[in-house]
Amino acid sequence: MTDVRPDNRPTGSLRDRIAAELTRARDRSVRLTEAVDDDDLVRQHSPIMSPLVWDLAHVGNQEELWLVRDVGGREPVRQDIDDLYDAFKHPRRDRPALPLLGPAEARRYVATVRDKVFDLLDGVRFDGSRLVADGFAFGMIAQHEQQHDETMLATHQLRTGPPVLSAPAPPPSVRPVAGEVLVPAGRFTMGTSTDPWALDNERPGHPVELPAYVIDAAPVTNGEYLAFVADGGYADPRWWSEPGWRHRSSAGLTAPLHWRRDGTDWGYTRFGRYAPLVPDEPVVHVGFHEAEAYATWAGKRLPTEAEWEKAARWDPDSGRSRRYPWGDEDPTPEHANLGQRHLAPAPVGAYPAGASPLGVHQLIGDVWEWTSSPFLGYPGFAAFPYREYSEVFFGSDYRILRGGSFGTDPVACRGTFRNWDLPIRRQIFSGFRCARDARPEEIA
Ligand SMILES: [Fe+2]
Repeated sequence: MTDVRPDNRPTGSLRDRIAAELTRARDRSVRLTEAVDDDDLVRQHSPIMSPLVWDLAHVGNQEELWLVRDVGGREPVRQDIDDLYDAFKHPRRDRPALPLLGPAEARRYVATVRDKVFDLLDGVRFDGSRLVADGFAFGMIAQHEQQHDETMLATHQLRTGPPVLSAPAPPPSVRPVAGEVLVPAGRFTMGTSTDPWALDNERPGHPVELPAYVIDAAPVTNGEYLAFVADGGYADPRWWSEPGWRHRSSAGLTAPLHWRRDGTDWGYTRFGRYAPLVPDEPVVHVGFHEAEAYATWAGKRLPTEAEWEKAARWDPDSGRSRRYPWGDEDPTPEHANLGQRHLAPAPVGAYPAGASPLGVHQLIGDVWEWTSSPFLGYPGFAAFPYREYSEVFFGSDYRILRGGSFGTDPVACRGTFRNWDLPIRRQIFSGFRCARDARPEEIA
């Protein structure tokens, strides 16, 4: 079915894209929840994660609230469960004790909601309220489901027992990438006012002036991080901030999460399989405090959020900011390691087609990258469509992560996309790269 907008552009393709994005997200949710038995679905694998069955029904509940009730104006499907799946009413540690829908009931519920959404998608007009303009609410819900899918993937990484997920290995490195890139001083546009599915915290686009700085051409690798571990980095308070050292000490941290010493070598467990450390893969499962300590040990620092985004989006030829490091077009498998096609970050040098104009590699995909910036609204920020998406998290408790991981779907990943978490968190697919101020002789 094809509508015609006032500007005579058909909107059939938008409807098709929405249907495809919703279906792709649901296929992934199904894969992640059918990989384990019912007992596993209702169990809590870590106190900082929800049972998988909570994520599943929560995804359906958000879809019901925004699309069935708000956009569609239809009768509620299950108003009685709204409270159970309100993430703000029940912290993750309490969720297993709630009278949650069981696996079969949760599956029926999300399918019923989805049927209603496809029914209303057939007739919805995209030129009404701001909520539906350009299909925003549908895009928001597809992104929300994919974000929970990434969270469910992190839960899979925390569960014990035999492996249940598999995927081909990521592509090999095809070109050596090392060293640093100088980003010249000047102004660039940070954030966006035009990307139709960008979320409120990415808006509005605004000019930011930065002095010259230097940023690593690639994320910090396992091999590089191992040198920090081997140098006694976890035992030396000189490299750690005061809260970082306090956390390192109380939590007894000695290496990234999931690393294990195997005689004189190191390895890690990934989705139930043990393997020796691959030296040229980006390090993953480090917290902000560990990333910061490594950077200090290396004589550098973490990039600010603005430095990360300028390195990723600024095109020195045109002076404009791109949607992605490689340009404005959506990611393909040649650009970046996204979408759970692989269950690990790819080695440095695996995605030359995804590099930025300045030659910064693997900014998108592989690992989320910690920045030094707290989570704040941009100048002119306005919460939309609800304060709980991001505004209630603003402040210095959280640090920004950028770029997405191998577990992030392309629909929820852009050069402007902002993720945030507590500095101690490392169950997420988090790594980092370093930056530093440019030296006077480098700018001359
Ligand atoms: Fe959610």
